Amino acid sequence: MKRKTCLAFGVFIILASSLLFPPRAQAISNDECMECHSDDSLERNDSEGMKQDLYIDYNRFKFSVHNVNGITCVDCHDDIEELDWDSEVPHPTSLAMVHCENCHEEEGEAYLDSVHKKAGGKGITIPCYACHGYHFVTHLESDSVFERENKFCLKCHNPDNFHDWLPQKETHFAFVECAVCHAPESPRYISLRFYDLISKDFLGTEALLKALGTDYENFMVLLDKDKDEVISLAELEDMVLLLRQKDIRGTFHGELVMKLIPSVHHVNRGGANRECEQCHNPQSPFFEDVYISLNRDDGTNQLQKVERRALESYYVNHFYAIGGTRVRNLDRIGLVLVIGGLSIVTGHFLVRIATITGRRKRREKKTN
Ligand code: HEC
Ligand code: HEC
Ligand code: HEC
Ligand code: HEC
Ligand code: HEC
Ligand code: HEC
Ligand code: HEC
Repeated sequence: MKRKTCLAFGVFIILASSLLFPPRAQAISNDECMECHSDDSLERNDSEGMKQDLYIDYNRFKFSVHNVNGITCVDCHDDIEELDWDSEVPHPTSLAMVHCENCHEEEGEAYLDSVHKKAGGKGITIPCYACHGYHFVTHLESDSVFERENKFCLKCHNPDNFHDWLPQKETHFAFVECAVCHAPESPRYISLRFYDLISKDFLGTEALLKALGTDYENFMVLLDKDKDEVISLAELEDMVLLLRQKDIRGTFHGELVMKLIPSVHHVNRGGANRECEQCHNPQSPFFEDVYISLNRDDGTNQLQKVERRALESYYVNHFYAIGGTRVRNLDRIGLVLVIGGLSIVTGHFLVRIATITGRRKRREKKTN
């Protein structure tokens, strides 16, 4: 092509594309919103005359999964198209509701089949953010059962009021996420995390990897000696012994949690059933998938498949659903270990459970 035609062609392309995609008014940056919404005294009276806080804690927003993935204020508040700096409030004072399902289509669809969405028919609207919150949403993968329940279901339900047929309620609620029973057709797995018996706390993934002298990528290279991509019972026990050489003594703690897919939203009346054998039986499908969860700082995790039989290990003493994962060939010493360890951890969880309401109130105070 000659240079001139080339140039003309280029100009044509630019013109054509600006017709096809009219330049959107320069996207409004978060900074512009924060000129006002970083003022912690910004508030107004809502329609019922209650004070509504309009301050956004940007330091917290910064770490939200949305900001990290480049979602800005106006991506959600998408009816603000421009800011009119001449008026006191530069945008409409009554904005449209934010529709999370515009971006999370599959979850929006899954949510239709849920007692919570259907409550809309009775005039009770439970939007996505009643459970998830909005400005400070984080990844959920690495959350423990306790965090998952506390963030969601326990905001509105007190499970102690129901479930009288279930023995050891506290134990079940500490080890089994609500949705495992209440969205039973959705897949779940056992997440194993290393519990340090000396500090009496979970050993963070960073510390665990450091002690093993490895990293996320090489974790399996180190442990999976037979290269079958699964950590066997023996390989799991080798890991415990390796840690022991570094003076770290502990055991694995297992929790039954949901896979994060849209169908976890299928919570329905009568959806759960009371059959103990669902779990307390050696073939229980609930204990099929077992993973070590390596958690990252951003709330995501890396799941490393573990052989189901590993649940029988002495070192998985916090997951002892009688009949379900049955600890076979257990010698006396092992039994003492198991029971000793279990009572420590169960004790720890009972304390946490007992203080849930207190802590929740404190947290609510903080966020309000
Ligand atoms: C010049 C100051 C100013 C700027 C800039 C500003 N706001 Fe506001 N905003 C306000 C005031 C004042 C109110 C309270 C309005 C009222 O009186 O009801 C408000 C209210 C809101 C509300 C609540 C409205 C509702 O219907 O619930 C949202 C959401 C909001 N702003 C988002 C934003 C976003 C997003 C941006 C950036 C695109 C932004 N604001 C920029 C001053 C500002
Ligand atoms: C993930 C979506 C999302 C993002 C991103 C987002 N908001 Fe919101 N915002 C909401 C939702 C949802 C509500 C509350 C319900 C409603 O009004 O629809 C809300 C409410 C508000 C309110 C009313 C006060 C309050 O806290 O309830 C203000 C002010 C506001 N947002 C400003 C902002 C500003 C400023 C930013 C950017 C720093 C921002 N929002 C980013 C979803 C979002
Ligand atoms: C009744 C509470 C509740 C409501 C309402 C709710 N969710 Fe969820 N959501 C959950 C729970 C519980 C999980 C699983 C989290 C877990 O296991 O820790 C989840 C998981 C998710 C996930 C991660 C899993 C995935 O599919 O990637 C997304 C995204 C999500 N929800 C979006 C939404 C959206 C969008 C809406 C509204 C249409 C919504 N949620 C309404 C409770 C709720
Ligand atoms: C403008 C698009 C957009 C809107 C609107 C939006 N999100 Fe998101 N959301 C994203 C993106 C992008 C991610 C990060 C990528 C991912 O994990 O799917 C994300 C991630 C999430 C996650 C984390 C999922 C996980 O993997 O752990 C949750 C939960 C979530 N959003 C809930 C909400 C809720 C609740 C609302 C409404 C208040 C909302 N989102 C509104 C785009 C959006
Ligand atoms: C924002 C408050 C709220 C949150 C959070 C919430 N729920 Fe609900 N839930 C309700 C309301 C309101 C109803 C009653 C709906 C109706 O009457 O139709 C309900 C009903 C139920 C029911 C049926 C109860 C019945 O009467 O048979 C179950 C089961 C349930 N929720 C479980 C859960 C689980 C599990 C979670 C966490 C994933 C959760 N809920 C989170 C408000 C909430
Ligand atoms: C071991 C399984 C299991 C676990 C774990 C569990 N539930 Fe249930 N739950 C049930 C069964 C079974 C019922 C009765 C059948 C039904 O209504 O679905 C029930 C009933 C309920 C009801 C309805 C009560 C009514 O009015 O009929 C609510 C609300 C509820 N559970 C919330 C929760 C919450 C919140 C959690 C987590 C803290 C939780 N459940 C954990 C099995 C479980
Ligand atoms: C969704 C799976 C599930 C269901 C359904 C279930 N359980 Fe459990 N149960 C567990 C898990 C997981 C534990 C905790 C394992 C642990 O302590 O190591 C547990 C713990 C227990 C414990 C305490 C064991 C201990 O060592 O402290 C008893 C007792 C128990 N369950 C009885 C029952 C009975 C009776 C039923 C039926 C009414 C039932 N469970 C239903 C999963 C379940």
